[in-house]
Amino acid sequence: MTNFPVSANVAKMKMSSTLKAGQTAANLRDQGFDVIDLTLGEPDFPTPEFIKEYACEGLQKNLTKYTPTAGLKSFQESIVEFYAEEFGANFSPKEIIATDGGKQALFNAACTLLNPGDEVLIPKPYWVTFPEIANFINAKSIFIETEETNFILTAEQVKNSITDKTKLLIVNSPNNPTGRVIPADEMRRIIEVCAERNVYVLTDECYLFFAYPPTEVFTSASLPEDLRQFVCVAGSFSKTYAMTGWRIGYTIANEDWTREMTKLQSHSTSHPTSFVQYACGRAMENHAGSKAAVGAMLAEYERRKDWLIPALQAIENFKCAMPEGAFYAFVDVRNLLGDRFKTSADFADFLLNKSHVVVTDGEGFGADGFLRFSYATSMENLQNAVERIRKVLEQL
Ligand SMILES: Cc1ncc(COP(=O)(O)O)c(C=O)c1O
Repeated sequence: MTNFPVSANVAKMKMSSTLKAGQTAANLRDQGFDVIDLTLGEPDFPTPEFIKEYACEGLQKNLTKYTPTAGLKSFQESIVEFYAEEFGANFSPKEIIATDGGKQALFNAACTLLNPGDEVLIPKPYWVTFPEIANFINAKSIFIETEETNFILTAEQVKNSITDKTKLLIVNSPNNPTGRVIPADEMRRIIEVCAERNVYVLTDECYLFFAYPPTEVFTSASLPEDLRQFVCVAGSFSKTYAMTGWRIGYTIANEDWTREMTKLQSHSTSHPTSFVQYACGRAMENHAGSKAAVGAMLAEYERRKDWLIPALQAIENFKCAMPEGAFYAFVDVRNLLGDRFKTSADFADFLLNKSHVVVTDGEGFGADGFLRFSYATSMENLQNAVERIRKVLEQL
């Protein structure tokens, strides 16, 4: 033990609870237990072959040196072209930065806008990182409860939460952990309400391509210019192309915001890996290949969801709505809480110890009483996990 004098800003940060849960699963497995890990927030598919080939092509072309901080021009142009074609969006390459994953996109956006004391609106449940970013900047997280609107944020809720100190709303749809999707009209109204009060909106769209029909995907990048000037889209290839380890994402924001984020990034990571940018740019140019790859993953997630959700609903005292997007089942276990289990964390521990099924407790998402089950794992794992959970609950 050393007495390391950690900075105040980092001392108050909590370790990512989702990563911690995954670590618990890995530790148990190392001890020889047959663990089923339902904590993972990453696709269980390999990165599609054609993207790996583009990365090799980038290496062959000797794209192994620094790129501009905001990314290769070809990368920026491919995002512009892809969003125009897919979503009818209209913005310029100067509004794009290539980032090291969605996480850096979020950090860049928040750090360039917020000052200590600014209020940041964060709908609950939230992705664990959002309040930690605000915390780090000494901004104040103001949480918006959304349970009564079925975990779908509304413009009305946002309007009622804005004060003179509000600077930013962080929104994530399709949502981790709830799987809910904010309909396009409502999202537009949310941004209108914010724009009227000069509040900016950071929209985390890292699950953009994972919405189950008839739910439609919507990107705020397709909004008209007058609204878009208040928006920063944080995008990521991690889930879209199953490339979490490659560390690549992007922002789409107005030129001023983009300039400031570029300045910040020039002093942190500089840019994501050169040939990875090349690979993603080429992948987006290949619409047919991208669509086929994403479509195949979406179909498999849907097949698992269609089995898993009814199976969870059939467990006594489990309540779970059908997800509209992403790859998580968000289970309300509050009926099980009482003397035996005080919190959902206690219940998650029980599942871990008795059935060796690891799930993520809702507390880290601001939703004590809920558990998140990731179905980014094989159908066999899901079936075994449900069977084990049923058995241990029978013995209660
Ligand atoms: C809601 C949400 N946003 C952002 C990210 C970050 O993704 P990455 O940094 O891998 O692109 C994740 C990853 O789990 C996420 O779930």
